[in-house]
Amino acid sequence: MIKIEPIQPDVFYSPCKIVFGLNTAGSVAEEIRQLGGGKILIVTDPGIVKAQVLAPIETALRSDGIPYALYDGVQPEPPSEVIDRGAEFYRAEGCRLVVGVGGGSSLDAAKGISILAGNPGGILDYTGLDRVPRRGAPLVLMPTTAGTGSEVTRVLVVTDERENLKSVVFSRFAVADTAIIDPLLTVGMPPHVTADTGMDAFVHAAETYVSMNATVFSDLHAERAIERIARWLPAACAKSSNIEARYHLSAAATLAGLAFGSGGLGAVHALAYPLGTEYHMTHGRTNALMLPHVMRYNLAGAASKYGRMAALMGRDVAGRSPLAAAGQCVEAVKELLQAIGVSFRMSDYGIPRTDLPKLVQGAMKQARLFVPNPRDLCGDDVRLIYEEAC
Ligand SMILES: [Fe+2]
Repeated sequence: MIKIEPIQPDVFYSPCKIVFGLNTAGSVAEEIRQLGGGKILIVTDPGIVKAQVLAPIETALRSDGIPYALYDGVQPEPPSEVIDRGAEFYRAEGCRLVVGVGGGSSLDAAKGISILAGNPGGILDYTGLDRVPRRGAPLVLMPTTAGTGSEVTRVLVVTDERENLKSVVFSRFAVADTAIIDPLLTVGMPPHVTADTGMDAFVHAAETYVSMNATVFSDLHAERAIERIARWLPAACAKSSNIEARYHLSAAATLAGLAFGSGGLGAVHALAYPLGTEYHMTHGRTNALMLPHVMRYNLAGAASKYGRMAALMGRDVAGRSPLAAAGQCVEAVKELLQAIGVSFRMSDYGIPRTDLPKLVQGAMKQARLFVPNPRDLCGDDVRLIYEEAC
């Protein structure tokens, strides 16, 4: 028998309470009361305000007489200054709780402001693993996309403007007290946003599922997310008002968040990051583009898991060898991408082959994500994967 030491325990992070369902946005007032009440700071971005997504939340707060201030200064991949300024505003307004409403950037900014409400300094003082000393303000998170899963993770991504670098805070104190997931808040998303955010969620589940850090908990959540997204993402992209599809996609994004929050990501995210930085493509789109190519490279490292994933995506893998079954997973992902109108060819995005050295360099800066990846990678492997994607 092979003895592997040290034995790593399986750890699972999640909010204390997850409220999920149609029309649950209005329950925010009751959740705030349960957290002790007081004036709240709503953290969001100008797009959410303009699209009137806050309407059911503001109505519930007003009818319950809960005072609130609005901080709508969040920008994509929030610069640290946006979070630091939000924390100053929180103090100036005499708030006691933070409610984040929006996509991943707004939820991450809300996490940062909550942390700074109970800890000195700026958010960049707390990047890295478990560097936040104590819990900050009570935190409620309400996603308006079905993608990042940030509402249930302990991760927040912040841009360090001085270094032009993305930094990450991993802390149990970034986990929400309550996540409220109302699929109706996602109905206004146009098809391309639905596709990009849905594929981000899919990649979270798929990468975690084959990760060397996968746990009994992450497997369970990842499987349920994978089958739901494969089944419902095309319908949600085809018809934005398909409530049944929205319902399942919101559930899937949260399940994927619960999975990767405990299991971790891999080479898809590593190879996707430089595309986002160089060509200002959305995070979800870059992940979608790289997914089938990284998956094909990875097959031998996690054949049985990829075979199972193919079955979860509706493929009949009975009687096939483990590698042949795993290969079906790549075909199923390509079919899914075609169904939602997302190209997995870099040439379709105007990315020239001559840029490959720059991209390889960028991906190698994310080498920490290669550690849990089911197949080892060096610079030459990364270049070959990008060439496949051209
Ligand atoms: Fe992601």
